[in-house]
Amino acid sequence: MTKSQGQGMSGSTAGETAAGAVGGRFRELYGAEPQGVWAAPGRVNLIGEHTDYNDGFVMPFALPHTAVAAVSRRDDGVLRLHSADVAAPVVEVAVDSLTPGTDKNWTAYPAGVVWALREAGHAVSGADIHLASAVPAGAGLSSSAALEVVVALALNDLYALGLDGRQLALLCQRAENVYVGAPVGIMDQTASACCESGHALFLDTRDLSQRQIPFDLAAEGMRLLVVDTRVKHSHSEGEYGKRRAGCEKGAALLGVDALRDVPHADLDAALERLGDEEEVRRLVRHVVTEDARVDRVVTLLEAGDTRAIGPVLTAGHASLRDDFRVSCPELDLVVDTAVAAGALGARMTGGGFGGSAIVLAEETDVDAVTEAVENAFAAAGFKTPRVFGAVPSAGARRVR
Ligand code: GLA
Repeated sequence: MTKSQGQGMSGSTAGETAAGAVGGRFRELYGAEPQGVWAAPGRVNLIGEHTDYNDGFVMPFALPHTAVAAVSRRDDGVLRLHSADVAAPVVEVAVDSLTPGTDKNWTAYPAGVVWALREAGHAVSGADIHLASAVPAGAGLSSSAALEVVVALALNDLYALGLDGRQLALLCQRAENVYVGAPVGIMDQTASACCESGHALFLDTRDLSQRQIPFDLAAEGMRLLVVDTRVKHSHSEGEYGKRRAGCEKGAALLGVDALRDVPHADLDAALERLGDEEEVRRLVRHVVTEDARVDRVVTLLEAGDTRAIGPVLTAGHASLRDDFRVSCPELDLVVDTAVAAGALGARMTGGGFGGSAIVLAEETDVDAVTEAVENAFAAAGFKTPRVFGAVPSAGARRVR
């Protein structure tokens, strides 16, 4: 991918182009027009990492890249699934046979959503689904959440369930936690379901209250780059769950419901109380300082001081690298190189252990920063990273 790809591509245009192709393929596969076509985006997280399962604060925005689904409902208890991105025939399964933990393929995401809806008491009696996603998989950009949310929104419309974005996000999270078996928080699904074009989503993950924060970098002469290191990551592989368990241990030792309840002003006292629990101390320090960084970024953006968020992003990366320990050499190289080449700030985004970093730069520095990162990767013998500009785009919607 070239550095400018993705930039300037509006969510709705991309969604509508894909809708035609996805609808045509649906017809070939299932012999009829789909009853509708829906799109749900991937996301980057601007700030607030590994805070969502601590009841804390996050600030993602939606990417222009979406998962698109052509869907028709069925009333005979049969679920048929097909993906343009996987070389495999249509998978057919009875909705009343769906069982958590049994499916290790991509189909677990859409099937998990059907399972979660039915388990919550919604009479979903089957569907024909064809999916195609432009969200890079395994890149920390929430390709899984996009798949879940697009299916949930389609079924919500086709079965007239009347669920809102928050409720759909919670059901998708349940699908991923229980059906797929990945212990993720609520950020990615909420971002995909609730983000708005031109805004970052300030989300309190305790009660899911939200505020749309205007985030128009182009108008201020800046750009946000996404650098996909192409180091694959997976949340079901254990390290994510270990961090989550460590945070829960910290909350228990401190006698609070969640680490969100430790005020930043009390951090030193809290660390003192954790004594020689060094591992837990580091996790607690990251979460409490990260919540404070989200607060700081919201304050700066609302004051119109956008450039000043750069160092806050970079400080967040240092905390994820040194305290939370979820970075990797490739992500560190993006951050160090970008900042040295003049970027305003940079950090890993998403769960970590690979995936993507974000870089905030002046428009006039974008080429130099991109070149510096590409050269540094070549010199280190790493895979060529994919770099693209990201504009805050629309959340999940019906496109046809
Ligand atoms: C992944 C999870 C999210 C969140 C981030 C880290 O993206 O799906 O719930 O925990 O990691 O901030």
